[in-house]
Amino acid sequence: MKVYFINCLILILTVQNYLASPVPDTDSTDKEQLNEHNKLFELTLDKFVAFNADLGEICDEYRSKAFKELEKNNDLKDKELMDREHEKYLKSLEKLKEAKTTEDKLMEVAKLQREIIYSAKHVEDPNADEETKRLIEKYHVTDFLEKLYAFYFEFYKGFEEAYEEYISELNETQKEEQKELLKWHEDFHEEKKCVEKTEKFLQFFSIFYDE
Ligand SMILES: *[C@@H]1O[C@H](CO)[C@@H](O)[C@H](O)[C@H]1NC(C)=O
Repeated sequence: MKVYFINCLILILTVQNYLASPVPDTDSTDKEQLNEHNKLFELTLDKFVAFNADLGEICDEYRSKAFKELEKNNDLKDKELMDREHEKYLKSLEKLKEAKTTEDKLMEVAKLQREIIYSAKHVEDPNADEETKRLIEKYHVTDFLEKLYAFYFEFYKGFEEAYEEYISELNETQKEEQKELLKWHEDFHEEKKCVEKTEKFLQFFSIFYDE
């Protein structure tokens, strides 16, 4: 289990907003096609990078507190490993904040999200080992996971608003051309479980950008 991330989960208490801002108006028709210059794609990617950076800041800010608690209770099994993991984590956070190109931004958010999804699945795994279950219960990790999900749902709410606004500006021909996006949205919208919804959300980007 990724103990480091569990520590973060324990301490994420703040729910932040997507801060939905209107999709910028532009005359360029290129901004309404399914490519990397699409305005919904650009806006969403930037917001998602910011969301990930906030998530990272919150984790980092409270990390030392969580470590103290774990140390005090003798639950910190391998401090060196945790420190190394933390170093790695800080580096990816730096890289995320420095990412300028679409490719780099996508790569860095995907890396962070993969780790979060992996950790969340572990926490929710009914077949986890006893030690893991003990820690999850002792530190009320599930409660905090719920708070983390609320943080995501707040983000998705903002995204849905931007999406609706974008779609409302398309004419029938454009909608037909962008059915891949509309189909994706139907799926995404239906999904109510946070981890699965997040996996679907990540597919949004590949509609516009082929690696
Ligand atoms: C739909 O919008 C596109 C892009 O603005 C335009 O090129 C096209 O002529 C429009 N089609 C119809 C049927 O209005």
